[in-house]
Amino acid sequence: MSDEPRRLDRRDFLVRGGLLAGATTLAGAGGYVAGRELGRSEGDAQAAGSEAGKTDTRQFLLDPAYVNLTTFLLASHPRVVREAIERHRRGLDAGTALYLRQAEPMFEDEARDAAADYLGTAREQVALTDSTTMGLGLTYARLSLEPGDEVVTTEHDFYATHEPLRLRAQLDGATVRRIRLYEEPENASVDAIAAAVSGALRPRTRALAVTWVHSSSGVKLPLRKISAAVAQANRGRSDGERILLCVDGVHGFGAEDASPVDLGVDVFSSGCHKWLFGPRGTGLVWAAPHAWERLAPTIPTFDGSAYIAWIEGRPPSETPAGALNTPGGFHSFEHRWALKEAFEFHRDIGRDKVAARTRALANRMKEGLANIQGVTVKTPMDESLSAGLVCCDVPRPAREVVDRLREEHNVVASVTPYATEYLRFGPSIANQEADVDRALEAVAAVVA
Ligand SMILES: Cc1ncc(COP(=O)(O)O)c(C=O)c1O
Repeated sequence: MSDEPRRLDRRDFLVRGGLLAGATTLAGAGGYVAGRELGRSEGDAQAAGSEAGKTDTRQFLLDPAYVNLTTFLLASHPRVVREAIERHRRGLDAGTALYLRQAEPMFEDEARDAAADYLGTAREQVALTDSTTMGLGLTYARLSLEPGDEVVTTEHDFYATHEPLRLRAQLDGATVRRIRLYEEPENASVDAIAAAVSGALRPRTRALAVTWVHSSSGVKLPLRKISAAVAQANRGRSDGERILLCVDGVHGFGAEDASPVDLGVDVFSSGCHKWLFGPRGTGLVWAAPHAWERLAPTIPTFDGSAYIAWIEGRPPSETPAGALNTPGGFHSFEHRWALKEAFEFHRDIGRDKVAARTRALANRMKEGLANIQGVTVKTPMDESLSAGLVCCDVPRPAREVVDRLREEHNVVASVTPYATEYLRFGPSIANQEADVDRALEAVAAVVA
């Protein structure tokens, strides 16, 4: 007998669990092969990547009767993602247990590898989740904090950051302090934000919880500068005392040509179903190895190595952090596995081209709005402080404007879901210049 620790993969786990007992291999790999044949056509990547990031908007099934500038809320699936979902759905519907048995570990690894490749990191550091909110909830629930330690967050963050921190404070009395990084978003400055962060970090601060692109205003935080301020405050601290920079990255992920890994972030949570145009109901948490050390799972993983540890009556010490922190249970696998195609979609176009295209459309939107009387653009014009989201103040209630844009002009916009409501657009690679121009004409007509 070998001395090698026994490896139990997910398939063994399912077999042991009795689910697949007696299962036989599907002839010819069944739905998997059939699925591969359904795969993307060669032309798609080229079409999607042509003309300096101008995407082939035919990838999307958006209703042409409307101008939709809200795909950032929840993605419309591009064709390659739709086809991948359909392929997996067919396989699962044809024989769920058999499809799982033959394909599941491989597809999960492929999805995680594609995510790791996009982030520029290793598979072992990527946990898969269902959303940004799930990732933030899991992170802030288990972040290691001693009595008297504090988490600093900001007034600009979304409910998905504030609420898990409130729940954490309720659970064990952890201190949560909110700071302000700017007064009016349109006047935000990189240096003032970095200075506000530096001035807020105290000896007992253990985490800084921020959002990459504020969905309240469209302000993009200068993460590199912030991580430098955090690094400065961390000088001389032990590992357990280091301040972790924890980021809700959802409105930058898939819109910006930068990876949190390179920006000096420690813990990054994002949905993959907004700007990334991944399958609805998918997300991830990436953390640097030193940061994973300070986190712990809440929901047990279904990773095979953890399962065998349980069988053998020991903790899952061999399970990599990413897998360990991936909530277990069965999932909507056809969506999760199609993450691979979503990351490939971006890779094939080019992350730089996606970002350039998003930015060009956002700039067109901002410049056009600034020329409409009575409209104040709240999102900074400066590209170092903005991404794809565009928010503005209008001389009527934002909700009324959103309703009239939709009802009278077939333009779909949104209202910022915060105490201060702004009119909000998110032109993306699913849009063309003409969409932005139609929206601008409609806003001018509604606010006139
Ligand atoms: C900043 C921010 N974070 C998180 C979310 C929620 O994202 P998810 O659906 O991935 O949880 C939103 C909006 O939907 C948001 O604006």
